[in-house]
Amino acid sequence: MHDITRPTRLVGLSGSLRKASYSRATLSGLRDNLPLSIDLEICDLQLPLYNEDEDRADGPEQVRLLRKAIGASDGVVIVTPEYNHGIPGVLKNALDWASRPFGKSVLIDKPVLVITVSPAFTGGVRAHAQVNETLLSIPARIMAGPQVVLGGIATKVKGGIVDTHYLAFTLEAIDRLATMSRQRT
Ligand SMILES: Cc1cc2nc3c(=O)[nH]c(=O)nc-3n(C[C@H](O)[C@H](O)[C@H](O)COP(=O)(O)O)c2cc1C
Repeated sequence: MHDITRPTRLVGLSGSLRKASYSRATLSGLRDNLPLSIDLEICDLQLPLYNEDEDRADGPEQVRLLRKAIGASDGVVIVTPEYNHGIPGVLKNALDWASRPFGKSVLIDKPVLVITVSPAFTGGVRAHAQVNETLLSIPARIMAGPQVVLGGIATKVKGGIVDTHYLAFTLEAIDRLATMSRQRT
């Protein structure tokens, strides 16, 4: 059961590696607006490509750090673009690493909020469905409820989240994730 005397610890994963990424800016914008009761640590997904031969206790350092951060967290916030109507390779690769060892993944039963962003009005909704499908297979605990699909992101995020409706909507979702993680047994 979650110890309510400490902040809820969330880990943020961005499906885009580029410096000016809207996904990453959405994550940092959220982090900068969270109540004191919630911490959000953004993790680096610059990982080698998944290779089962390398997936050992002494495997890649970045992978060990990612697994450790997810394992120590109360929940995960994924913010990702859609690439060619699907999940970007960077994110799929990270989830594949985090999904192992089979049956002992740090993502098993972990509360996860998925947010997709796009400059298009479609908001990355097809990638959203694919990320959920991957999380189901692990199985992580996907946060149900209103889907956070943010379209027209180029005018809504500049450094941080400048659109007040988007900010309020995503903060509400984070609040529901924190509640869900506190209720976890
Ligand atoms: C390889 C590639 C494929 C893309 N495919 C889609 C797509 O299918 N749907 C979409 O809405 N945007 C697509 N885009 C546009 C991205 O949504 C846009 O570049 C976005 O800003 C990327 O996210 P980021 O800002 O977090 O890097 C694509 C971009 C790239 C580079």
